Amino acid sequence: MAYSITLIPGDGIGPEVTRATVRVIEAVCPGIQWESVEAGEGAMARWGKPLPDVVLDSVRKNRIALKGPIGTPVGKGFTSVNVGLRKALDLYVSLRPVDSLPGLKTRHDGVDLIVFRENTEGLYAGIEHEPVPGVVESLRISTETAWRRFIHHAYEWCRYNGRRKIHLVHKGAIMKLSDGLFLRVAREIAADYPYLETHEISVDHLFMDLVLDPTRYDVLITDNLFGDLVSDLTAGLVGGLGVVPGANIGDKYAVFEAVHGTAPDIAGKGLANPIALLRSGAMMLAHIGERSAAQRIERSIRKVLADAKHLTGDLGGKATTDELTDALIAEL
Ligand code: NAI
Repeated sequence: MAYSITLIPGDGIGPEVTRATVRVIEAVCPGIQWESVEAGEGAMARWGKPLPDVVLDSVRKNRIALKGPIGTPVGKGFTSVNVGLRKALDLYVSLRPVDSLPGLKTRHDGVDLIVFRENTEGLYAGIEHEPVPGVVESLRISTETAWRRFIHHAYEWCRYNGRRKIHLVHKGAIMKLSDGLFLRVAREIAADYPYLETHEISVDHLFMDLVLDPTRYDVLITDNLFGDLVSDLTAGLVGGLGVVPGANIGDKYAVFEAVHGTAPDIAGKGLANPIALLRSGAMMLAHIGERSAAQRIERSIRKVLADAKHLTGDLGGKATTDELTDALIAEL
């Protein structure tokens, strides 16, 4: 089939890992027309804003995008393009599978987690102001409507994909109202799925348990900020940010991107690991119905990792992005 898909190369290592990902995807699924649009620093220079309309128009037309990471200045400058994109396209579900991969030396084997992160509200939405100098307010706004659609999506996904044990991750002992709302809505939804196991856990307790034994967990459902933190922590359990994929999903649109950022320390050097974005690309292919192409990519990644001959520096090897990509294509 012919598809038109928006490609957002992004900043830092973004162009390097998107180029590699497109090469592999084209080898298994040649019918894709990539519509490349700039967001982030490139767009700032060209359009005067980091998230120009041309990006949103392209995703609205194609419905699907593959996106590289985009940098956000710390403590100043423009607001996050990633947050802006998720809000503008109402991509309210962040889905991040975290699983042990062959060949990678990690503290634990057999990790197989799914992290669901609410993507539009909470502290991570970055709604802040300084009412008087020296006093700042960060607003943690959450609504029943947003929780309900997000949690319902997560439960339906678990049912459809045969995932049975869900943990609701919260800090309800302290944030009684906001996490109280989350837990109330989640308990109501859980009651409609008596064949799925639902548990509740405080986020601090979860972090300790994940470090000690992540295999106790299956599916984690949580808010925007906790989900951001859990994502990086769990990535570290299975080989790091270079291998963990992600998807941002709404009712109309979906944007697939890795968990990692722009990796300024290695950008432009040809050293970035493209596997995280490639696995996000495989999730994208599965999402549009190209399941066998997605499986071929996953299989080639597992073979190349198991062979351990063409690993990038983050995985303990010496290969460049191009060498790893060539090896992946050869294994398809
Ligand atoms: P980062 O994820 O860019 O880097 C953290 C560490 O992981 C660095 O040592 C980096 O070299 C390494 N790393 C990350 N991805 C890698 C890959 N594919 N291959 C090999 N090594 C990799 O996190 P950091 O430094 O906190 O953020 C840098 C910028 O990225 C910031 O401006 C941040 O806002 C942005 N960012 C963007 C995201 C997105 O677009 N979705 C997500 C996270 C951060």
